[in-house]
Amino acid sequence: MKGDVFPKDFLWGGAISAHQCEGAYLEDGKGLCTADTLVAGADRFKTFGKPIDPDAYYPNHKAIDFYHRYKEDVALFAEMGFKALRTSIAWTRIFPNGDEEEPNEKGLQFYDDLFDELHKYGIEPIVTVTHYETPLYLANKYGGWKNREMIPHFERYCRTIFKRYKDKVKYWLNFNEINSMLYMGVLGAAMPIFRGMKGFEEDTWQAAHNMLTAAAIATKLCHEIVSGGKMGMMLSSMYIYGATCNPADQWMAYEQNRRQFLFSDVMMRGHYSSFGLKLLEKYGVQTMPSDFELMRENVCDYLSFSYYSTMVASSGPAKNDGKGNMASGMRNPYLKSNEWGWQMDPTGLRLVLSTLYERYEKPLLIAENGLGATDVVEDGCVHDDYRIEYLRAHIQACADAVREGVQLMGYLPWGCIDLVSCSTGEMRKRYGFIYVDVDDRGQGTFERIRKDSFYWYRRVIASNGTMLGDIK
Ligand code: BG6
Repeated sequence: MKGDVFPKDFLWGGAISAHQCEGAYLEDGKGLCTADTLVAGADRFKTFGKPIDPDAYYPNHKAIDFYHRYKEDVALFAEMGFKALRTSIAWTRIFPNGDEEEPNEKGLQFYDDLFDELHKYGIEPIVTVTHYETPLYLANKYGGWKNREMIPHFERYCRTIFKRYKDKVKYWLNFNEINSMLYMGVLGAAMPIFRGMKGFEEDTWQAAHNMLTAAAIATKLCHEIVSGGKMGMMLSSMYIYGATCNPADQWMAYEQNRRQFLFSDVMMRGHYSSFGLKLLEKYGVQTMPSDFELMRENVCDYLSFSYYSTMVASSGPAKNDGKGNMASGMRNPYLKSNEWGWQMDPTGLRLVLSTLYERYEKPLLIAENGLGATDVVEDGCVHDDYRIEYLRAHIQACADAVREGVQLMGYLPWGCIDLVSCSTGEMRKRYGFIYVDVDDRGQGTFERIRKDSFYWYRRVIASNGTMLGDIK
Protein backbone atom coordinates (compact mmCIF):
# COMPACT_ATOMS: atom_id res chain seq x y z
CA MET A 1 0.00 0.00 0.00
CA LYS A 2 1.48 3.37 -0.93
CA GLY A 3 1.79 6.07 1.75
CA ASP A 4 0.07 6.30 5.10
CA VAL A 5 -3.67 5.83 4.91
CA PHE A 6 -4.37 5.19 8.57
CA PRO A 7 -4.05 8.08 11.04
CA LYS A 8 -0.91 8.22 13.20
CA ASP A 9 -2.86 7.43 16.36
CA PHE A 10 -4.69 4.46 14.81
CA LEU A 11 -5.45 1.83 17.45
CA TRP A 12 -3.89 -1.36 16.09
CA GLY A 13 -4.40 -4.21 18.52
CA GLY A 14 -6.61 -7.15 19.30
CA ALA A 15 -9.69 -8.23 21.21
CA ILE A 16 -10.57 -10.89 23.77
CA SER A 17 -13.22 -11.36 26.46
CA ALA A 18 -13.02 -12.35 30.11
CA HIS A 19 -15.01 -15.58 29.92
CA GLN A 20 -13.24 -16.91 26.85
CA CYS A 21 -9.75 -16.34 28.26
CA GLU A 22 -9.48 -15.92 31.97
CA GLY A 23 -10.53 -19.27 33.43
CA ALA A 24 -10.22 -19.19 37.27
CA TYR A 25 -14.00 -19.30 37.18
CA LEU A 26 -14.44 -19.42 40.96
CA GLU A 27 -11.16 -17.95 42.10
CA ASP A 28 -10.71 -14.98 44.45
CA GLY A 29 -14.41 -14.70 45.19
CA LYS A 30 -15.73 -14.77 41.62
CA GLY A 31 -19.37 -15.90 41.28
CA LEU A 32 -20.89 -17.91 38.44
CA CYS A 33 -21.89 -16.09 35.28
CA THR A 34 -24.18 -17.32 32.53
CA ALA A 35 -21.24 -18.34 30.31
CA ASP A 36 -19.95 -20.58 33.11
CA THR A 37 -22.95 -22.89 32.59
CA LEU A 38 -22.26 -23.60 28.91
CA VAL A 39 -20.78 -26.99 28.05
CA ALA A 40 -18.85 -27.65 24.82
CA GLY A 41 -20.46 -28.96 21.64
CA ALA A 42 -23.90 -29.18 20.08
CA ASP A 43 -25.79 -28.97 23.39
CA ARG A 44 -23.90 -25.90 24.49
CA PHE A 45 -26.86 -23.60 24.90
CA LYS A 46 -29.18 -26.19 26.38
CA THR A 47 -27.29 -26.15 29.69
CA PHE A 48 -27.66 -22.38 30.01
CA GLY A 49 -28.55 -21.39 33.57
CA LYS A 50 -28.51 -24.97 34.89
CA PRO A 51 -26.50 -25.98 37.97
CA ILE A 52 -22.93 -27.07 37.27
CA ASP A 53 -22.77 -30.81 36.53
CA PRO A 54 -19.56 -32.24 38.03
CA ASP A 55 -19.36 -34.81 35.21
CA ALA A 56 -19.68 -32.33 32.35
CA TYR A 57 -16.87 -30.37 30.71
CA TYR A 58 -17.14 -26.56 30.74
CA PRO A 59 -14.43 -25.11 28.51
CA ASN A 60 -14.33 -21.62 29.98
CA HIS A 61 -13.73 -22.78 33.55
CA LYS A 62 -10.03 -22.84 32.80
CA ALA A 63 -10.12 -21.38 29.29
CA ILE A 64 -6.54 -20.35 28.40
CA ASP A 65 -5.72 -19.51 32.02
CA PHE A 66 -5.26 -15.82 31.21
CA TYR A 67 -6.06 -15.00 34.85
CA HIS A 68 -2.69 -16.47 35.87
CA ARG A 69 -0.73 -15.89 32.67
CA TYR A 70 -1.80 -12.40 31.63
CA LYS A 71 1.69 -10.92 32.14
CA GLU A 72 3.21 -13.31 29.63
CA ASP A 73 0.34 -12.66 27.20
CA VAL A 74 0.47 -8.89 27.51
CA ALA A 75 4.24 -9.04 26.87
CA LEU A 76 3.49 -10.94 23.64
CA PHE A 77 0.90 -8.33 22.61
CA ALA A 78 3.51 -5.66 23.28
CA GLU A 79 6.03 -7.56 21.16
CA MET A 80 3.58 -7.31 18.25
CA GLY A 81 3.42 -3.57 18.86
CA PHE A 82 -0.21 -3.42 20.06
CA LYS A 83 -1.52 0.07 20.72
CA ALA A 84 -4.77 -1.22 22.23
CA LEU A 85 -6.31 -4.31 23.75
CA ARG A 86 -10.04 -4.83 24.03
CA THR A 87 -11.17 -7.08 26.85
CA SER A 88 -14.17 -7.29 29.16
CA ILE A 89 -14.55 -7.17 32.90
CA ALA A 90 -16.17 -10.29 34.35
CA TRP A 91 -19.15 -8.77 36.18
CA THR A 92 -19.12 -11.66 38.71
CA ARG A 93 -15.52 -10.97 39.77
CA ILE A 94 -16.78 -7.60 40.98
CA PHE A 95 -20.29 -8.59 42.17
CA PRO A 96 -20.38 -12.40 42.51
CA ASN A 97 -24.18 -12.62 42.54
CA GLY A 98 -24.82 -9.24 41.03
CA ASP A 99 -26.97 -7.86 43.84
CA GLU A 100 -24.37 -7.24 46.58
CA GLU A 101 -24.03 -3.74 47.97
CA GLU A 102 -20.23 -3.94 48.23
CA PRO A 103 -17.88 -5.09 45.47
CA ASN A 104 -15.33 -7.90 45.75
CA GLU A 105 -11.94 -6.24 46.29
CA LYS A 106 -9.92 -9.14 44.90
CA GLY A 107 -11.84 -8.98 41.64
CA LEU A 108 -11.30 -5.23 41.38
CA GLN A 109 -7.59 -5.69 42.08
CA PHE A 110 -7.18 -8.18 39.23
CA TYR A 111 -8.28 -5.60 36.66
CA ASP A 112 -6.17 -2.90 38.30
CA ASP A 113 -3.18 -5.15 37.79
CA LEU A 114 -4.15 -6.04 34.24
CA PHE A 115 -4.67 -2.40 33.20
CA ASP A 116 -1.36 -1.41 34.87
CA GLU A 117 0.39 -4.14 32.95
CA LEU A 118 -1.09 -2.87 29.67
CA HIS A 119 -0.09 0.73 30.43
CA LYS A 120 3.43 -0.42 31.22
CA TYR A 121 3.77 -1.16 27.49
CA GLY A 122 1.74 1.82 26.29
CA ILE A 123 -1.25 -0.38 25.39
CA GLU A 124 -4.61 1.36 25.73
CA PRO A 125 -7.28 -0.80 27.40
CA ILE A 126 -10.65 -0.73 25.64
CA VAL A 127 -13.08 -2.29 28.07
CA THR A 128 -16.41 -3.98 27.43
CA VAL A 129 -18.61 -3.63 30.49
CA THR A 130 -20.17 -7.01 29.82
CA HIS A 131 -19.47 -9.62 27.16
CA TYR A 132 -22.17 -12.30 27.66
CA GLU A 133 -21.13 -12.54 31.35
CA THR A 134 -24.31 -11.78 33.31
CA PRO A 135 -24.30 -12.99 36.93
CA LEU A 136 -26.10 -16.33 36.94
CA TYR A 137 -27.94 -15.42 40.12
CA LEU A 138 -29.49 -12.34 38.50
CA ALA A 139 -30.30 -14.23 35.29
CA ASN A 140 -32.14 -16.92 37.24
CA LYS A 141 -33.82 -14.59 39.70
CA TYR A 142 -35.16 -12.14 37.11
CA GLY A 143 -35.29 -14.25 33.96
CA GLY A 144 -32.68 -12.05 32.28
CA TRP A 145 -33.00 -8.65 30.65
CA LYS A 146 -36.72 -8.87 29.86
CA ASN A 147 -37.08 -7.79 33.51
CA ARG A 148 -36.16 -4.17 34.19
CA GLU A 149 -35.15 -5.12 37.74
CA MET A 150 -31.80 -5.88 36.10
CA ILE A 151 -31.17 -2.19 35.50
CA PRO A 152 -30.27 -1.00 39.04
CA HIS A 153 -27.81 -3.88 39.47
CA PHE A 154 -26.16 -3.06 36.17
CA GLU A 155 -26.07 0.61 37.16
CA ARG A 156 -24.31 -0.16 40.47
CA TYR A 157 -21.80 -2.32 38.63
CA CYS A 158 -21.09 0.43 36.07
CA ARG A 159 -20.71 3.09 38.74
CA THR A 160 -18.27 0.86 40.64
CA ILE A 161 -16.00 0.08 37.71
CA PHE A 162 -16.05 3.61 36.28
CA LYS A 163 -15.05 5.02 39.67
CA ARG A 164 -12.35 2.46 40.23
CA TYR A 165 -10.74 2.60 36.77
CA LYS A 166 -11.41 6.20 35.78
CA ASP A 167 -7.71 6.99 35.61
CA LYS A 168 -6.77 3.82 33.75
CA VAL A 169 -9.55 3.28 31.20
CA LYS A 170 -10.84 5.98 28.85
CA TYR A 171 -12.48 3.84 26.18
CA TRP A 172 -15.53 1.82 27.23
CA LEU A 173 -18.09 -0.31 25.41
CA ASN A 174 -21.43 -1.15 27.00
CA PHE A 175 -22.93 -4.51 25.91
CA ASN A 176 -21.05 -6.84 23.58
CA GLU A 177 -22.97 -7.28 20.31
CA ILE A 178 -26.19 -5.94 21.78
CA ASN A 179 -28.26 -6.93 18.74
CA SER A 180 -27.17 -10.57 19.04
CA MET A 181 -30.17 -11.04 21.33
CA LEU A 182 -32.30 -11.17 18.19
CA TYR A 183 -30.64 -14.47 17.30
CA MET A 184 -29.36 -15.72 20.62
CA GLY A 185 -31.24 -14.48 23.66
CA VAL A 186 -29.24 -16.86 25.83
CA LEU A 187 -26.00 -15.00 25.24
CA GLY A 188 -27.23 -11.54 24.35
CA ALA A 189 -29.92 -11.01 26.97
CA ALA A 190 -29.26 -13.79 29.52
CA MET A 191 -32.66 -15.33 28.80
CA PRO A 192 -33.32 -19.01 28.10
CA ILE A 193 -35.33 -18.24 25.00
CA PHE A 194 -35.09 -19.43 21.41
CA ARG A 195 -36.80 -18.32 18.21
CA GLY A 196 -40.09 -20.11 17.74
CA MET A 197 -40.89 -20.25 21.48
CA LYS A 198 -44.08 -18.64 22.71
CA GLY A 199 -43.52 -14.99 23.61
CA PHE A 200 -40.17 -14.85 21.82
CA GLU A 201 -40.75 -11.48 20.10
CA GLU A 202 -42.39 -9.91 23.16
CA ASP A 203 -39.59 -10.94 25.52
CA THR A 204 -36.86 -10.10 23.04
CA TRP A 205 -38.06 -6.55 22.37
CA GLN A 206 -38.78 -5.95 26.05
CA ALA A 207 -35.21 -7.03 26.83
CA ALA A 208 -33.89 -4.85 24.00
CA HIS A 209 -35.62 -1.79 25.40
CA ASN A 210 -34.41 -2.50 28.95
CA MET A 211 -30.83 -2.97 27.75
CA LEU A 212 -30.95 0.18 25.63
CA THR A 213 -32.15 2.08 28.70
CA ALA A 214 -29.36 0.54 30.80
CA ALA A 215 -26.85 1.45 28.08
CA ALA A 216 -27.95 5.09 28.21
CA ILE A 217 -27.43 5.05 31.99
CA ALA A 218 -23.94 3.62 31.45
CA THR A 219 -23.10 6.42 29.02
CA LYS A 220 -24.37 9.02 31.49
CA LEU A 221 -22.28 7.56 34.32
CA CYS A 222 -19.19 7.22 32.16
CA HIS A 223 -19.39 10.87 31.12
CA GLU A 224 -19.98 12.00 34.71
CA ILE A 225 -17.31 9.89 36.37
CA VAL A 226 -14.51 9.34 33.84
CA SER A 227 -12.87 12.59 32.84
CA GLY A 228 -12.41 12.46 29.06
CA GLY A 229 -14.13 9.07 29.01
CA LYS A 230 -15.61 7.79 25.76
CA MET A 231 -18.50 5.35 25.72
CA GLY A 232 -19.01 3.25 22.63
CA MET A 233 -21.66 0.80 21.58
CA MET A 234 -20.92 -2.62 20.09
CA LEU A 235 -22.94 -3.95 17.18
CA SER A 236 -22.75 -7.38 15.64
CA SER A 237 -22.69 -6.34 12.01
CA MET A 238 -24.35 -9.04 9.98
CA TYR A 239 -25.15 -7.05 6.89
CA ILE A 240 -27.77 -8.83 4.82
CA TYR A 241 -27.89 -8.99 1.02
CA GLY A 242 -31.02 -9.81 -0.93
CA ALA A 243 -30.58 -13.16 -2.69
CA THR A 244 -31.55 -11.65 -6.08
CA CYS A 245 -32.72 -8.34 -7.53
CA ASN A 246 -36.28 -9.53 -7.04
CA PRO A 247 -37.78 -6.62 -5.05
CA ALA A 248 -39.25 -9.14 -2.61
CA ASP A 249 -35.73 -10.38 -1.76
CA GLN A 250 -34.48 -6.81 -1.44
CA TRP A 251 -37.33 -5.96 0.91
CA MET A 252 -36.56 -9.01 3.01
CA ALA A 253 -32.92 -7.94 3.35
CA TYR A 254 -33.89 -4.36 4.19
CA GLU A 255 -36.37 -5.55 6.79
CA GLN A 256 -33.73 -7.66 8.54
CA ASN A 257 -31.05 -4.97 8.35
CA ARG A 258 -33.24 -2.34 9.92
CA ARG A 259 -33.90 -4.56 12.95
CA GLN A 260 -30.17 -4.45 13.59
CA PHE A 261 -29.84 -0.72 12.94
CA LEU A 262 -32.62 -0.17 15.45
CA PHE A 263 -30.03 -0.68 18.21
CA SER A 264 -27.45 1.68 16.74
CA ASP A 265 -30.15 4.24 15.93
CA VAL A 266 -31.04 4.51 19.62
CA MET A 267 -27.48 4.60 20.88
CA MET A 268 -25.99 6.83 18.17
CA ARG A 269 -28.95 9.10 17.40
CA GLY A 270 -30.65 9.09 20.78
CA HIS A 271 -34.01 7.84 19.62
CA TYR A 272 -35.83 4.93 18.02
CA SER A 273 -36.67 5.09 14.33
CA SER A 274 -40.39 5.30 13.57
CA PHE A 275 -40.21 1.62 12.67
CA GLY A 276 -38.60 0.87 16.07
CA LEU A 277 -41.39 2.66 17.91
CA LYS A 278 -44.00 0.67 16.01
CA LEU A 279 -42.24 -2.56 16.97
CA LEU A 280 -42.36 -1.63 20.66
CA GLU A 281 -46.06 -0.91 20.28
CA LYS A 282 -46.73 -4.11 18.37
CA TYR A 283 -45.14 -6.30 21.03
CA GLY A 284 -46.57 -4.43 24.00
CA VAL A 285 -43.18 -3.36 25.34
CA GLN A 286 -43.43 -1.59 28.72
CA THR A 287 -41.56 1.71 28.77
CA MET A 288 -41.27 4.79 30.97
CA PRO A 289 -41.03 8.36 29.66
CA SER A 290 -37.70 8.77 31.48
CA ASP A 291 -36.22 5.93 29.37
CA PHE A 292 -36.62 8.00 26.20
CA GLU A 293 -35.18 11.07 27.91
CA LEU A 294 -32.12 9.08 29.02
CA MET A 295 -31.62 7.78 25.49
CA ARG A 296 -31.94 11.26 24.01
CA GLU A 297 -29.49 12.85 26.41
CA ASN A 298 -26.84 10.14 26.46
CA VAL A 299 -25.72 9.09 23.01
CA CYS A 300 -22.54 7.10 22.50
CA ASP A 301 -19.29 8.72 21.39
CA TYR A 302 -18.30 6.03 18.90
CA LEU A 303 -19.65 2.92 17.29
CA SER A 304 -17.71 -0.30 17.48
CA PHE A 305 -18.72 -3.47 15.71
CA SER A 306 -17.73 -7.05 15.05
CA TYR A 307 -17.47 -8.16 11.46
CA TYR A 308 -17.04 -11.72 10.29
CA SER A 309 -19.34 -12.10 7.34
CA THR A 310 -22.40 -10.96 5.45
CA MET A 311 -25.66 -12.90 5.19
CA VAL A 312 -28.25 -13.52 2.48
CA ALA A 313 -32.04 -13.22 2.72
CA SER A 314 -34.49 -14.69 0.26
CA SER A 315 -38.23 -14.32 -0.06
CA GLY A 316 -38.44 -17.87 -1.46
CA PRO A 317 -38.96 -21.02 0.59
CA ALA A 318 -36.81 -20.92 3.74
CA LYS A 319 -33.39 -22.28 2.89
CA ASN A 320 -31.00 -22.17 5.77
CA ASP A 321 -28.01 -23.81 4.17
CA GLY A 322 -25.41 -21.31 5.30
CA LYS A 323 -23.92 -20.56 8.65
CA GLY A 324 -22.81 -17.32 10.12
CA ASN A 325 -21.91 -15.46 13.20
CA MET A 326 -24.56 -17.20 15.34
CA ALA A 327 -27.36 -16.31 12.93
CA SER A 328 -27.56 -18.70 10.02
CA GLY A 329 -28.76 -17.85 6.56
CA MET A 330 -28.55 -18.81 2.91
CA ARG A 331 -25.19 -19.59 1.41
CA ASN A 332 -23.78 -16.87 -0.84
CA PRO A 333 -22.51 -18.61 -4.00
CA TYR A 334 -19.95 -15.86 -4.63
CA LEU A 335 -18.07 -16.37 -1.37
CA LYS A 336 -15.79 -19.00 0.11
CA SER A 337 -16.45 -20.38 3.60
CA ASN A 338 -14.26 -21.41 6.49
CA GLU A 339 -14.53 -24.86 8.08
CA TRP A 340 -17.48 -23.72 10.19
CA GLY A 341 -19.38 -22.38 7.19
CA TRP A 342 -18.71 -18.70 7.96
CA GLN A 343 -18.36 -16.96 4.62
CA MET A 344 -15.50 -14.57 3.89
CA ASP A 345 -16.40 -11.22 2.42
CA PRO A 346 -13.93 -8.33 2.74
CA THR A 347 -16.00 -6.16 0.41
CA GLY A 348 -18.84 -6.58 2.90
CA LEU A 349 -16.63 -4.91 5.50
CA ARG A 350 -16.18 -1.88 3.25
CA LEU A 351 -19.93 -1.80 2.77
CA VAL A 352 -20.56 -1.93 6.52
CA LEU A 353 -17.98 0.77 7.24
CA SER A 354 -19.46 3.11 4.65
CA THR A 355 -23.06 2.40 5.64
CA LEU A 356 -22.49 2.97 9.34
CA TYR A 357 -20.37 6.07 8.86
CA GLU A 358 -22.75 7.70 6.41
CA ARG A 359 -25.71 6.86 8.68
CA TYR A 360 -24.25 8.22 11.95
CA GLU A 361 -21.18 10.32 11.06
CA LYS A 362 -19.44 9.23 14.27
CA PRO A 363 -16.05 7.49 14.66
CA LEU A 364 -16.07 3.75 14.06
CA LEU A 365 -13.97 1.04 15.68
CA ILE A 366 -13.59 -2.52 14.43
CA ALA A 367 -13.89 -4.39 17.73
CA GLU A 368 -13.73 -7.89 16.22
CA ASN A 369 -12.76 -9.44 12.90
CA GLY A 370 -10.92 -12.63 12.08
CA LEU A 371 -10.78 -16.13 10.73
CA GLY A 372 -11.54 -19.18 12.87
CA ALA A 373 -9.41 -22.05 11.60
CA THR A 374 -7.79 -25.31 12.68
CA ASP A 375 -4.07 -24.64 13.06
CA VAL A 376 -1.35 -27.27 12.97
CA VAL A 377 1.91 -27.01 14.91
CA GLU A 378 4.85 -28.24 12.83
CA ASP A 379 8.30 -28.21 14.41
CA GLY A 380 7.19 -25.59 16.87
CA CYS A 381 5.74 -23.29 14.15
CA VAL A 382 2.25 -22.53 12.87
CA HIS A 383 2.15 -21.57 9.19
CA ASP A 384 -1.18 -19.77 9.03
CA ASP A 385 -1.04 -18.06 5.62
CA TYR A 386 -4.85 -18.49 5.32
CA ARG A 387 -5.26 -16.18 8.33
CA ILE A 388 -2.80 -13.65 6.93
CA GLU A 389 -4.70 -13.71 3.64
CA TYR A 390 -8.01 -13.12 5.40
CA LEU A 391 -6.75 -10.27 7.59
CA ARG A 392 -4.85 -8.64 4.75
CA ALA A 393 -7.98 -8.45 2.60
CA HIS A 394 -10.00 -7.01 5.48
CA ILE A 395 -7.38 -4.40 6.38
CA GLN A 396 -7.30 -3.47 2.70
CA ALA A 397 -11.08 -2.95 2.87
CA CYS A 398 -10.55 -0.67 5.88
CA ALA A 399 -7.96 1.31 3.96
CA ASP A 400 -10.36 1.73 1.04
CA ALA A 401 -13.04 3.02 3.40
CA VAL A 402 -10.63 5.39 5.19
CA ARG A 403 -9.50 6.80 1.84
CA GLU A 404 -13.13 7.67 1.17
CA GLY A 405 -13.35 9.62 4.42
CA VAL A 406 -14.63 7.05 6.90
CA GLN A 407 -13.34 7.95 10.36
CA LEU A 408 -11.94 4.68 11.69
CA MET A 409 -10.32 4.67 15.14
CA GLY A 410 -8.76 1.25 15.14
CA TYR A 411 -8.66 -2.37 14.15
CA LEU A 412 -8.88 -5.03 16.86
CA PRO A 413 -8.85 -8.56 15.41
CA TRP A 414 -10.77 -11.07 17.48
CA GLY A 415 -9.05 -13.69 19.59
CA CYS A 416 -5.59 -12.19 19.10
CA ILE A 417 -4.53 -15.06 21.31
CA ASP A 418 -6.36 -18.40 20.81
CA LEU A 419 -9.37 -18.66 23.11
CA VAL A 420 -12.54 -20.69 23.69
CA SER A 421 -15.02 -20.35 20.83
CA CYS A 422 -18.21 -18.68 21.91
CA SER A 423 -20.61 -20.52 19.60
CA THR A 424 -19.12 -24.01 19.87
CA GLY A 425 -16.97 -24.05 23.01
CA GLU A 426 -14.11 -25.49 20.97
CA MET A 427 -10.45 -24.55 21.25
CA ARG A 428 -9.89 -26.02 17.79
CA LYS A 429 -11.56 -22.97 16.23
CA ARG A 430 -8.57 -20.68 16.56
CA TYR A 431 -8.30 -17.00 15.68
CA GLY A 432 -5.03 -15.99 17.31
CA PHE A 433 -1.65 -14.66 16.30
CA ILE A 434 -0.54 -16.65 19.34
CA TYR A 435 -1.22 -20.39 19.52
CA VAL A 436 -2.18 -21.81 22.91
CA ASP A 437 -1.41 -25.47 23.45
CA VAL A 438 -4.75 -26.67 24.81
CA ASP A 439 -7.32 -28.88 23.10
CA ASP A 440 -11.10 -29.20 23.05
CA ARG A 441 -11.07 -31.11 26.36
CA GLY A 442 -8.78 -28.66 28.12
CA GLN A 443 -5.71 -30.90 27.77
CA GLY A 444 -2.30 -29.44 26.92
CA THR A 445 0.69 -27.56 28.26
CA PHE A 446 -0.90 -24.10 27.80
CA GLU A 447 2.37 -23.05 26.18
CA ARG A 448 2.11 -19.96 23.94
CA ILE A 449 3.60 -20.19 20.40
CA ARG A 450 4.00 -17.31 17.95
CA LYS A 451 2.30 -18.12 14.62
CA ASP A 452 3.51 -16.78 11.24
CA SER A 453 0.68 -14.24 11.46
CA PHE A 454 2.28 -12.89 14.65
CA TYR A 455 5.33 -11.68 12.71
CA TRP A 456 3.20 -10.48 9.81
CA TYR A 457 0.89 -8.41 12.06
CA ARG A 458 3.92 -6.94 13.82
CA ARG A 459 5.13 -5.64 10.44
CA VAL A 460 1.66 -4.31 9.62
CA ILE A 461 1.53 -2.35 12.87
CA ALA A 462 5.12 -1.09 12.62
CA SER A 463 4.37 0.26 9.14
CA ASN A 464 1.00 1.71 10.21
CA GLY A 465 -0.74 -0.56 7.76
CA THR A 466 1.38 0.27 4.73
CA MET A 467 3.11 -3.15 4.61
CA LEU A 468 0.31 -5.63 4.07
CA GLY A 469 2.14 -7.89 1.63
CA ASP A 470 1.27 -8.20 -2.04
CA ILE A 471 -1.80 -6.04 -1.94
CA LYS A 472 -1.70 -2.61 -3.61
C1 BG6 B 1 -18.58 -12.72 18.41
C2 BG6 B 1 -18.45 -12.71 19.92
O1 BG6 B 1 -19.90 -12.98 18.12
O2 BG6 B 1 -17.93 -13.68 17.69
C3 BG6 B 1 -17.22 -13.43 20.44
O3 BG6 B 1 -18.47 -11.39 20.42
C4 BG6 B 1 -17.01 -14.69 19.63
O4 BG6 B 1 -17.39 -13.67 21.82
C5 BG6 B 1 -16.75 -14.29 18.20
O5 BG6 B 1 -16.00 -15.49 20.13
C6 BG6 B 1 -16.39 -15.45 17.29
O6 BG6 B 1 -17.34 -16.45 17.41
P1 BG6 B 1 -16.93 -17.94 17.71
O7 BG6 B 1 -18.19 -18.64 17.89
O8 BG6 B 1 -16.16 -18.41 16.55
O9 BG6 B 1 -16.11 -17.91 18.95
